Amino acid sequence: MADFTIRPMDRQDHPAAARIMAGSDPWLTLGIDEARALATMEAQGIPGVVATLDNGTMLGFIRYEPKGFIGYAAYIRTVAVAPQARGKRVGETLMNHVESLVFEQAPLLFLFCSTFNVRGQAFYERLGYERVGTVDAMLVPQHGEVLLVKRRKVAAP
Ligand SMILES: CC(C)(COP(=O)(O)OP(=O)(O)OC[C@H]1O[C@@H](n2cnc3c(N)ncnc32)[C@H](O)[C@@H]1OP(=O)(O)O)[C@@H](O)C(=O)NCCC(=O)NCCS
Repeated sequence: MADFTIRPMDRQDHPAAARIMAGSDPWLTLGIDEARALATMEAQGIPGVVATLDNGTMLGFIRYEPKGFIGYAAYIRTVAVAPQARGKRVGETLMNHVESLVFEQAPLLFLFCSTFNVRGQAFYERLGYERVGTVDAMLVPQHGEVLLVKRRKVAAP
């Protein structure tokens, strides 16, 4: 994998981010197409980070709410890496970056991962996320969402 850079996401990044989501699971199974992904991003107004090549090509992104979970904990909305860039630690680097940002303000970071997304769950567990439980039929009737959490490390005394 060529070198990539992590930078804040801005509105001009939304179309490329929506394209990464469209045509790929879990969004296919959840019925979220490019237009809906784009409309949701435009409406949300939350921060994000993107990984790009030097030529500007987006490899992946994360969108998150710094204190959006019960006004106290951080919440990751979306994590997506382009199919051709997966398995090369782009996702891990993006997650580490977001964690370093949100743990300055929030003690907990939550996210949901679909029950059918077994590789996604393995990705989060490898990064130290604990399973809290499953909300059945959360986004679609046939599938649930697994709630995962990571805690800010407490400095040793
Ligand atoms: C899950 C995802 C964000 C991980 O990013 P990544 O850059 O591919 O992951 P990394 O290279 O940092 O880590 C690789 C690990 O991710 C997991 N993984 C999940 N889906 C994967 C895929 N399609 N290809 C490769 N690894 C995948 C595996 O556990 C893998 O670990 P392994 O190499 O020991 O098998 C990315 O693969 C992706 O966008 N997948 C589709 C969308 C998705 O599932 N999003 C998250 C849930 S909302």
